Amino acid sequence: MGGNKRIVIAIDGPAGAGKSTLARRLAERLGFLYIDTGAMYRAVALWALRSGVGLADELRLAQLAKEAHIELLPGGRVWLNQQDVTEAIRDPAVAQAASQVSTLPCVRRALLDKQRAYAVASSVVMEGRDIGTVVFPEADIKIFLDAHLDVRAQRRLRDLERAGQPASFEDVRRELAQRDQRDRNRAEAPLQQPPDAVYVDTSGMTIEEAEEVLLKLIRDRTSNGKA
Ligand code: DC
Repeated sequence: MGGNKRIVIAIDGPAGAGKSTLARRLAERLGFLYIDTGAMYRAVALWALRSGVGLADELRLAQLAKEAHIELLPGGRVWLNQQDVTEAIRDPAVAQAASQVSTLPCVRRALLDKQRAYAVASSVVMEGRDIGTVVFPEADIKIFLDAHLDVRAQRRLRDLERAGQPASFEDVRRELAQRDQRDRNRAEAPLQQPPDAVYVDTSGMTIEEAEEVLLKLIRDRTSNGKA
């Protein structure tokens, strides 16, 4: 696809819209690198929680974000400072902490450099909250993935159950709503739909259906000279 030109596919949207699963599958199908930027914020938050750094301690958090050695391996495993943290970063407490540390401009700055570096050598499918707006405003294809809050909460509940961490629907729903509110209303790089993004609501779709919709969209856009 696209000869030697490197392609950036940016996927943004709220938690539970299906970004991670879909971005990973699309990357596999296209032979691109899959970058989960939420995992990077989660890794910094986990390091802060484990080392007792306060979630409002900007100076030290910026230092952690800069020094964090984060590896995103094919298949979705995540390593932080030579340690496999794939399961640890999925803890709901880490999700909330990630949402908090991600409000800090100095933390975002440190991770932005790492995110841009991934796309230097490879075509990427990158997902997060500000990929199409801040990280790659010139991305070849921008997708904004969304779903109703209840559907997103149901999906997250299932993920937690599968991971052996059963929770209540109400708690999960409240946690998601809180995180969305924070992610959408922060001053620095808030979650918003880029004006040139394609909006896709996955509420009524299975993962397989959503995957086909996105793949078609990507193929149409990359074969008609736009990318
Ligand atoms: O996608 P996720 O749930 O793993 O992301 C965890 C938190 O990280 C999310 O609540 C906000 C933050 N985040 C961000 O601010 N910018 C991104 N590009 C990705 C995630």
